[in-house]
Amino acid sequence: MSNNTMDPTMAPPSARRVGRHDEQRLVILVSNSKGGCGKTTLATNLAAYFAHQGQSVTLLDLDPQQSATQWVRLRADPRVESLGWPHDEPVSLGRLREQLGRAQDIVVIDSPAGMDRHTLDHVLRISQVVLVPVLPSPIDIRATTRFVQTVMLAPSYQRRPRRLAVIANRARTRTLMYEALRQFLSSLKIPYLVTLRDTQQYVQSMSSGASMLDMNDARFQEDRQSWQRIGEWLQVQRHLIRSMPGFH
Ligand SMILES: Nc1ncnc2c1ncn2[C@@H]1O[C@H](COP(=O)(O)OP(=O)(O)O)[C@@H](O)[C@H]1O
Ligand SMILES: [Mg+2]
Repeated sequence: MSNNTMDPTMAPPSARRVGRHDEQRLVILVSNSKGGCGKTTLATNLAAYFAHQGQSVTLLDLDPQQSATQWVRLRADPRVESLGWPHDEPVSLGRLREQLGRAQDIVVIDSPAGMDRHTLDHVLRISQVVLVPVLPSPIDIRATTRFVQTVMLAPSYQRRPRRLAVIANRARTRTLMYEALRQFLSSLKIPYLVTLRDTQQYVQSMSSGASMLDMNDARFQEDRQSWQRIGEWLQVQRHLIRSMPGFH
C-alpha cells in the first residue's frame, strides 16, 4: 500500500527498507534554477515510466508547492509513493539521508526553482543522475548554461562527477535556439537526451494524476518514444553505476 494518505514527512522507516545498501538505489535529481521549465512534469512522468516498468518509485518532493505530491495522491498507484519535506525546515544532508532510508530503489527528486548553492550541493550529494529540463527561450538557455556550471562546480560534484543530461522541453520544432546550448553541452560531453513536444496532454496529465506513459492513443506514440529513450538512458546509467565500483 502506498503511504500517500499519511503525513509523508512522519512515515516511520519500514523494516524492509532499513539497511538497504545505497548501491542498489538509483537517485535521479530533476533540477534547474528556472521555474516552469518542466521539472515536475519530468519527475512525474519518470515516476510513471518506472511504475510501468514494474518498479516501485519514490518521488521526493522538495518543492514547497508540493505539485508532485499532489500528483501522486491523484494517481493512487501502489507503485508510486511520495515523500515530502517539512515546510519550514532547511534541506540538510542528514535529513535527506533519513528520507532516502525510507525510499524505494528508484528515487526521483523534484526540486524547486532557485535552490541556493548550499542546498543544491546537499541534494547533489545523495543523487547519482541529474536531469535538467530546459525551455527554448534565450533566457532559459542562458540560465541553464549557468545552472550546469553551478552543478559542475559544486563540492559534491567535484568530488564525484554525476551523470548529467539535458532535456529540451516544449519545443514546437527543432529550433535553432538550442544550437548554442547544444554546442556548450557537447563541449562538456553532456548528452542532450530528447526534445519533448509541447502538448496540452502534459498539462491535463499533471492535473489528473496521469502521465504520457498512460496514453495508448497513437497520437502520443512519438511522446511515449521520447520517454522510452529517457528511461533506457537511465537504465544504462544504473547499470554503469552498479557495475563500476566506486563510480556512483
Ligand atoms: N512539454 C510540455 N507541453 C505542454 N505543457 C507543458 C510541458 N511541460 C510542462 N508543461 C506545463 O508547463 C507548466 C510548468 O511545468 P512544470 O513541470 O510545473 O515546471 P516546473 O516544475 O519546472 O516549475 C505546467 O503547467 C506544465 O503542465
Ligand atoms: Mg515544479
